[in-house]
Amino acid sequence: MQKQVEYAEAVKTKYPEQIVIAIARDKSGKANPITLGWTMFASGNPLMMAIAVAAGHYSIQAIEQSHCFTIAYPSAEMAQAALYFGSHSGRDTDKLAETGCRTEPAKQIDSVLLSDAVANFECVEESRVPAGDHIIYIGRVVAAHINAEPRKRLYTIAPGHKLGPAL
Ligand SMILES: Cc1cc2nc3c(=O)[nH]c(=O)nc-3n(C[C@H](O)[C@H](O)[C@H](O)COP(=O)(O)O)c2cc1C
Repeated sequence: MQKQVEYAEAVKTKYPEQIVIAIARDKSGKANPITLGWTMFASGNPLMMAIAVAAGHYSIQAIEQSHCFTIAYPSAEMAQAALYFGSHSGRDTDKLAETGCRTEPAKQIDSVLLSDAVANFECVEESRVPAGDHIIYIGRVVAAHINAEPRKRLYTIAPGHKLGPAL
């Protein structure tokens, strides 16, 4: 039997929630990473992925000028960097330089891969859909990479941006 509650109380039951890091270059060429929980695969053939980015975030400017982005699955070891990317704005920070996060060039798009991630997907913007206070970007995957070493993925495991590996 179900009990009707406030939206927020029901939303709190969603954990663990996967997180990804999307990276797009801004107009100065700086690669700007953003941590995102709201993401999904959107098509299997061709493979497409979707991310929901809040309208005021600097990442919007970066994605809209470069029309491509990497989606990385952070590894459990990347919790500190993921929190930093998710709490600082690229407007006034070079987040990759500040965290010392290791990167390598993407192969098919003008962005970077995160070397210590579990996997990286290179995406070309296919379409965008306004959704309330967020914009959903749908990207067509044009290249995919996995870590040569087995790594555990990082999730949000409880409210308040508590990050960790899923149990
Ligand atoms: C675990 C976690 C999940 C997040 N999920 C989202 C999300 O799905 N969409 C979003 O717009 N912001 C999300 N954020 C917030 C952004 O990552 C954060 O506001 C970031 O500093 C914006 O960076 P930018 O201004 O460089 O774009 C999340 C943050 C954290 C820590």
